[in-house]
Amino acid sequence: MWYKNALIYSLDVETFFDANGDGVGDFTGVLKHVDYLETLGATCIWLQPFQPTPNRDDGYDIVDYYAIDPRLGSFGDFAELMQSLDERGIRLIFDLVVNHTSDQHPWFRSACADARSPYRDYYVWSENRPATADQGMVFPGQQASTWTWNDEAQAYYFHRFYSHQPDLNIANPRVREEILRIIGFWLRLGVAGFRIDAAPFLIELTGAETPQAGAMYAFLEEMRAFVSWHRGDAILLAEANVEKDQLASYFGEGSRLHMLFNFLANQALFLALAREDAGPLRDALRQLPDPAPHGQWAQFLRGHDELDLGRLTPDQREAVFHAFAPDEEMRIFGRGIRRRLAPMMDNDRRRIEMAHSLMLSLPGCQVIRYGDEIGMGEDLALVGREAVRTPMQWSNDRNAGFSPAAEDRLIRPIIGSGAFDYRDVNVRDQVRDPDSLLNNVQRLIHIRRSAPEIGFGTLSLIETDHPCVMAVRYRWQDRSVVVVHNLAGRTCHVRLAVGDRRALHDIASDHAYPPAGERTEIGPYGYRWFRL
Ligand code: NOJ
Repeated sequence: MWYKNALIYSLDVETFFDANGDGVGDFTGVLKHVDYLETLGATCIWLQPFQPTPNRDDGYDIVDYYAIDPRLGSFGDFAELMQSLDERGIRLIFDLVVNHTSDQHPWFRSACADARSPYRDYYVWSENRPATADQGMVFPGQQASTWTWNDEAQAYYFHRFYSHQPDLNIANPRVREEILRIIGFWLRLGVAGFRIDAAPFLIELTGAETPQAGAMYAFLEEMRAFVSWHRGDAILLAEANVEKDQLASYFGEGSRLHMLFNFLANQALFLALAREDAGPLRDALRQLPDPAPHGQWAQFLRGHDELDLGRLTPDQREAVFHAFAPDEEMRIFGRGIRRRLAPMMDNDRRRIEMAHSLMLSLPGCQVIRYGDEIGMGEDLALVGREAVRTPMQWSNDRNAGFSPAAEDRLIRPIIGSGAFDYRDVNVRDQVRDPDSLLNNVQRLIHIRRSAPEIGFGTLSLIETDHPCVMAVRYRWQDRSVVVVHNLAGRTCHVRLAVGDRRALHDIASDHAYPPAGERTEIGPYGYRWFRL
């Protein structure tokens, strides 16, 4: 159950490090930085899609599931990376994007060209424009409908996402077989599991008139069984941003998915930070189903998409927008924020560090997005979610040390002005500075890894007399940790309801404090980790 206490580092090969100088990151570039990942404390890396793609949705539009995008390298480079990760005990998972293919995928092209093609039923068709065509868009503002007419096919096809991403027809057993075959192929090559892209949409049954969500949980069980037969320790980690009463169905008491991203806790966490009130986060943790014994949450701060606030009430969402995305251009799809963590926290070092510590102390394993550990910013001049997908800032050398290519050949511009300029925010400088964000995030990751109670144990929320203080306790076997965060910008002296407070021994904090006592001091945006 390695995934119970994993530290997953999420990166996109294309923006991490360019080893061959063509302006695009590559597998050899990741290989060159495996030591960095190991030192940081990553136990697993999650790669965004790296298969051949027209790249109209950052690789989430695949044309061949059995190949590697030649811009990123070869199977040889992939194998070399796997070998190097293996030597360090770091696992690799990647995105399984099978809710849809690219419209350039040979299956779709064949399906369009010939109504009798064996691939016709791989997709979802309707001769008439379904009444639901104007509903259910995932990218409002960028996507006009969920059904689009195809001239060649003389029919409408269904697409939950962009029109160039036709949905696969999961009701077709041959499609399900194809998906299992893809899973089996990559497990053979040594991957430790998959992030299931768009899981709720993958399993929905879409008929022209009656989309029927939820009828396909059985396919999750098929996938789980298949994965477990082929590699016992491999995991399925789903992107399933669903209502809380549906979450338990995705775990299926151990018969379906191993892990779910915790979108509810994520949104509550940002609401709590915005209001400087632990209440929303405490409520969210109370409401979540327990994934134990074999399931696990994946906690995170920011990912490669927008910070999705769609599960908050309009008032709550407004509070987060107001605090962290005051300008319209920082928002997207009417529900989210296209910013990185550090700028949202006004580049306030204490808040950025505290947010990391808080996330690391939530029940589950943790996922960190490349660049957040050094406090990278976003580029709002880029389109949509690309704002948060700029290249990794390695040093203050040209192109942030990401690539030796000419600037106009870079996959995406480097952030080269303002507070997040690569000359001010980069790995090399932060490695040298013992007080840097990087060194502190690394320290916190190591503290988290030394507290398996958080991954295996039982959570209890500790009562305090300060609403801005979030205090939790985990118990596992004969061990126990207590973690306290101050979400507000003023010092608190808090009464923690933990029995004998003298038994609290400091193991980490934002700065040195007097020992915990009747009242425990915690500084502005401070944190304290104790062993009991
Ligand atoms: C979720 C991914 O995270 C997102 O980036 C992508 O656009 C959609 N799924 C469609 O694959």
